[in-house]
Amino acid sequence: MDAAHELAQRLSNPERRVLAALAGAREAPLETLAQSAGFANEAEAMNAASWLRAKGVVEIDERSTPLVSLGPEGERYRQHGLPERRLHAFVASVGGRATLSRARSEGGLTPGEVQIALAWWKRKGLGRLERKGDDTDLVANAAPPATPDEQALGALDASRPVPETGVEAEGLRVLRQRPGVLHFGARKERRVRLTATGAEVAALGLHVEEEFSQLTPEIIQSGAWRTKTVRPYDVHTPAPRPQVGKPHPLVQLVEEIRDIFLELGFQEIEDEYVVPALWNMDALFIPQDHPAREMQDTLYLAHPARLPVDAKYTRLFGKVHTTGGGTGSRGWGGGFDPRESERALLRTHTTVGTIRYLAEHPKGAHRVFSIGRVFRNEAMDATHLPEFHQIEGIATEPGADFRMLLGILQEFYRRIGFEKLRWRPSYYPYTEPSMDVEVWNGTKWLELGGCGIFRPEVTQPLGVETPVLAWGLGLERLAMMRFGLGDIRQLYVSDLEWLKRQPLL
Ligand code: PHE
Repeated sequence: MDAAHELAQRLSNPERRVLAALAGAREAPLETLAQSAGFANEAEAMNAASWLRAKGVVEIDERSTPLVSLGPEGERYRQHGLPERRLHAFVASVGGRATLSRARSEGGLTPGEVQIALAWWKRKGLGRLERKGDDTDLVANAAPPATPDEQALGALDASRPVPETGVEAEGLRVLRQRPGVLHFGARKERRVRLTATGAEVAALGLHVEEEFSQLTPEIIQSGAWRTKTVRPYDVHTPAPRPQVGKPHPLVQLVEEIRDIFLELGFQEIEDEYVVPALWNMDALFIPQDHPAREMQDTLYLAHPARLPVDAKYTRLFGKVHTTGGGTGSRGWGGGFDPRESERALLRTHTTVGTIRYLAEHPKGAHRVFSIGRVFRNEAMDATHLPEFHQIEGIATEPGADFRMLLGILQEFYRRIGFEKLRWRPSYYPYTEPSMDVEVWNGTKWLELGGCGIFRPEVTQPLGVETPVLAWGLGLERLAMMRFGLGDIRQLYVSDLEWLKRQPLL
């Protein structure tokens, strides 16, 4: 079946009627169509025409014509004349000269109208004003011909709006300056025109037959369905998108991630944003002169500049950093400044939370995760944010090994919807081996985070004896892939249009 036939089949009865009424002339004002197609009113015809437009069968031209009619003040002026014209007539009738007080009392104008009349008196050249003691004389010129505003006034009506273009322009311009004189409106004119496709469909000869758009018990019981047609559902019909409240896509994604780790037997933990360098760095065997500790990378706090730390840990970590502290390592050598450990900073990774957890729970098997915000002193661009979230976790138990680590991450990404991963050797001061996880987004590999097994320099001082598998993955990068975004900032700009379009995950 060709496209025109298919289209014709999907048309509703009202649509067929519009089309049939259009078939001859190909184009008609909506008003005419509504009548010739037998609609109760224009709105019904417009409804059918709009569906036809959505299907590419017709085009609808809308033209708006500005209309003008008289307002209440204008109607009064039309009947009795403009106040200045009436004042002039009065002065002329009493010999061409009258005092203002006489004109006020005998002229037949309200005090407001006298005000208006005086404002136009000189402007329209109706006469002069001569000061005389306490009073003023109004001196009328010979009766001037009707001015453009008076002509326009005569052409207008209160009950019959006419197109603005049909009224003398200068007159309209002047009348516009007078409040309440004119009333403006518009006439919407709609013309419906067959498109090329529409012409093809119309040429098929549409017959308007009674058909059902809905099956009811009655239709089934009476057997009417045997003889009448049921209109097929049109699943391509454009429909309004329901506007419902829903959580931000990122929040939904966090929920999903949380569920996955919970299902995998992990327990969720939380930690502070503001932490001492001791836990963010020293505990993780990050040397005190490591470049990432510099102000350019790490956001240190001014208030408080320092946080109290347990001397037990500065001593422990100090030994590991300087000499290896019996972990089998030689440490970093050089010095270790316990004051540096106290410096308050905004956590640069959520690994601070898992290492603190380990310090508190050194024995036994553990699987914990966190999804939390981290801060870096970084410039923002399409792939970097100074604040973002990490999906962090550790798993520790006797015999835990690198294969198990890869298995956990593989399973996590599989459940979130990404099957294709690869691992690249990397470096973190606190893991050995260290790997970066990359995910295939269908076009290219994206780096999503780091992982590894905590080094003895990290676990031994805390009394942890089982291997600790650890990872820290970017949430926003994952979200970009999941939502098909080219720019990470899109997640945070509150673009309502984009947010409305996002499905519930
Ligand atoms: N903390 C690392 C980062 O911020 C990620 C990581 C976590 C790497 C745990 C190894 C182990 O990039």
